[in-house]
Amino acid sequence: MKMVSRSCLYLGGIIMFSFVATAISGPLDPNFYDKVCPQALPAIKTVVLEALRQERRMGASLLRLHFHDCFVNGCDGSILLDSTSSFTSEKFSLANNNSARGFEVVDRIKWEVDRVCGRPVVSCADVLAVAARDSVFALGGPYWKVELGRRDSTTASITTADADIPAPFMNLPQLIDNFKKQGLDVKDLVVLSGGHTLGFSQCRAFRTRIYNDTNIDSTFARQLQAICPRVGGDSNLAPLDPTPAHFDTKYFSDLTLRKGLLPSDQALFNGGETDSLVKEYSSDLDDFGEDFTKSMIKMGNIKPLTGNRGQIRSNCRRAN
Ligand code: HEM
Ligand SMILES: *[C@@H]1O[C@H](CO)[C@@H](O)[C@H](O)[C@H]1NC(C)=O
Ligand SMILES: *[C@@H]1O[C@H](CO)[C@@H](O)[C@H](O)[C@H]1NC(C)=O
Repeated sequence: MKMVSRSCLYLGGIIMFSFVATAISGPLDPNFYDKVCPQALPAIKTVVLEALRQERRMGASLLRLHFHDCFVNGCDGSILLDSTSSFTSEKFSLANNNSARGFEVVDRIKWEVDRVCGRPVVSCADVLAVAARDSVFALGGPYWKVELGRRDSTTASITTADADIPAPFMNLPQLIDNFKKQGLDVKDLVVLSGGHTLGFSQCRAFRTRIYNDTNIDSTFARQLQAICPRVGGDSNLAPLDPTPAHFDTKYFSDLTLRKGLLPSDQALFNGGETDSLVKEYSSDLDDFGEDFTKSMIKMGNIKPLTGNRGQIRSNCRRAN
């Protein structure tokens, strides 16, 4: 039996050999669109790269959209739906309101992929999964084969979004429990939190940390207090790690220096059971990249709609 396939990729000017275990997990399939629309994945990549040329942060924002999609009733594109008379959009949930971004880029990707395919064959949920992978790779992270064939929901749930998307104020047991409800383990929690090697946070999410926490480097806290006052400036931005446009190990090495930005970041290195994993990833980019890939595939397999369940939306913002 063939266990490992070897592919040679020429992407972004680098030659890379990747060894990809052929997954036997779940109903998704990395070759799902190969026959029906072989141009689909290149089209997604083109629009993602175009968006990243305009704004590096967009890669982070697209990665986060896939995460917030998968944690609410599975990876079904529900986060992209606008409100209707029968439900309120997840865009207004606690974690997403004035925070989740990249919806216009997703619209552009979907428009382009449907154009090259000649009809809507690629789901919005799959667009998010591929855009997240392309973003990570473009910013120096690992490459992986995205498993595909998700279909889109016809409804969204702000209640579930509020209940299931983790909050930055959670402690380690709460974070572990939150991920466990999605079928994700402690290792998935730690390595996927490494997504915070990219992007930014608003002051409102890290204010308690820089004024009230004791497990914080004092110079780091003072620097952030200049950006994030005790009162006001709620949406002022600070990078989640010192290199917010590079997928690297800085997120983890900063945790070991008590320089995690969010309470939930530092919770991963605070004398508990996850300290050793944080240490490991802080000094081993290959290890981080490899485990990140595995956990992204696992996260991407949370309760997908397949077969004749759900639909392929024409417009990611509303059901057909
Ligand atoms: C472990 C629990 C997690 C919590 C509590 C959490 C919380 C947050 C918060 C509060 C922000 C800042 C949002 C804002 O201020 O507007 C943020 C940003 C971000 N999160 Fe997480 N997150 C978690 C896990 C993850 C995971 C698993 C990923 C992806 C694999 C991820 C990817 C990102 C990215 C890329 C950003 C930056 C987005 C941007 O700059 O637009 N996060 N997260
Ligand atoms: C979302 O944010 C806006 C401000 O931009 C606010 O008016 C609205 O009440 C918020 N919605 C929810 C549901 O919190
Ligand atoms: C810090 O803690 C005090 C006492 O619990 C509380 O009153 C205050 O609101 C907290 N400040 C921040 C910024 O969280």
